[in-house]
Amino acid sequence: MYALLFRWVIVRMSTERAHHAAVAALRWGWPLVAAARWLRLMRPAPAAAAVRAMGIDFPAPLGLAAGLDKNAVAVKSLWLAGFSHVEVGTVTPKPQPGNELPRAWRELDIRGLRNRMGFNNEGADAAARRLATLRRSAVGRAAIVGVNIGKNKTTSAEDAPLDYGYCARVLAPYADYLVVNVSSPNTPGLRDLQSVAALRPILEHARAGASEAVRGRKVPLLVKIAPDLTDEDIDAVASLALELGLDGIVATNTTIAHDRGPGGLSGPPLLGRTVDVIARLRVRVGADMCLIGVGGVTTADDAVAVLDAGATLVQGYTALVYEGPFWPSRINRKLATR
Ligand SMILES: Cc1cc2nc3c(=O)[nH]c(=O)nc-3n(C[C@H](O)[C@H](O)[C@H](O)COP(=O)(O)O)c2cc1C
Repeated sequence: MYALLFRWVIVRMSTERAHHAAVAALRWGWPLVAAARWLRLMRPAPAAAAVRAMGIDFPAPLGLAAGLDKNAVAVKSLWLAGFSHVEVGTVTPKPQPGNELPRAWRELDIRGLRNRMGFNNEGADAAARRLATLRRSAVGRAAIVGVNIGKNKTTSAEDAPLDYGYCARVLAPYADYLVVNVSSPNTPGLRDLQSVAALRPILEHARAGASEAVRGRKVPLLVKIAPDLTDEDIDAVASLALELGLDGIVATNTTIAHDRGPGGLSGPPLLGRTVDVIARLRVRVGADMCLIGVGGVTTADDAVAVLDAGATLVQGYTALVYEGPFWPSRINRKLATR
């Protein structure tokens, strides 16, 4: 059914238009998703799939990666569709339009996507207002929501810690966990912030912002890294994460190691690197830190490969576009049997 919709309708729309249509459908169509769940068309994963990490009980391993719901408008649908957590964002302090169009492309031959969106989003205050409203509903309180934060394009590298600190302060009250994103290839200079010298003050500001805003509950803090880091850089991030007592690492973002045009590539070609980076990180950080494996996860076997490499949880984005709304519940149910 979704395969037909994809072939005859979605592919005929521009990637950006299809994205906006899908987000609007998810935003307003959540009662339909709730009905599909009630009718057991989208069954939740059985208890055997549950994962406890960072003090949170996740109902299953597979969650939604950042970038689809940048403004936290569609959490209810995404949660009810069977994702075990929904990572919203990337949210920046001030609203910003992102890069000029076109900025997203389908790579149909590899079932991948390529994008250079550039953190188009409505800003931290708008996201916080929306999440506050979400948390007043029963579904919104049940949903596990991560908030992925970034810096504005116009903010200098020196001032970047202030941006992350601001976002953490404004958004932590509504977040189950926060992710410091320093790995998008589409904000000039952002990935340079992955160096230990630049990353340390960013993480410290984010942590201070979160603990200033939320007392009596520790909001877990993670960092999201790029697949294009060298192994030495990955080791350095792992050491810093241990030193600062971070709660986890999200690995990885889109890759620029391709020859298909501008922007970062996502989807199946990333899987091998995801497995390698997770395996490397797990050796470096020890058994306890939460590692979220993301990049190229499409099938339950893919998810198992990433989990077997040492991931605590997995995420996906591109596969949802190609596989459709029944994908998360299907994969999480399969994972319960492994
Ligand atoms: C269109 C698009 C937009 C994205 N935007 C963000 C973003 O704002 N922040 C972020 O951390 N990752 C973003 N990502 C990266 C995804 O979260 C994920 O790390 C990456 O796509 C690899 O996973 P996948 O192969 O399952 O898609 C984006 C990915 C795509 C395809």
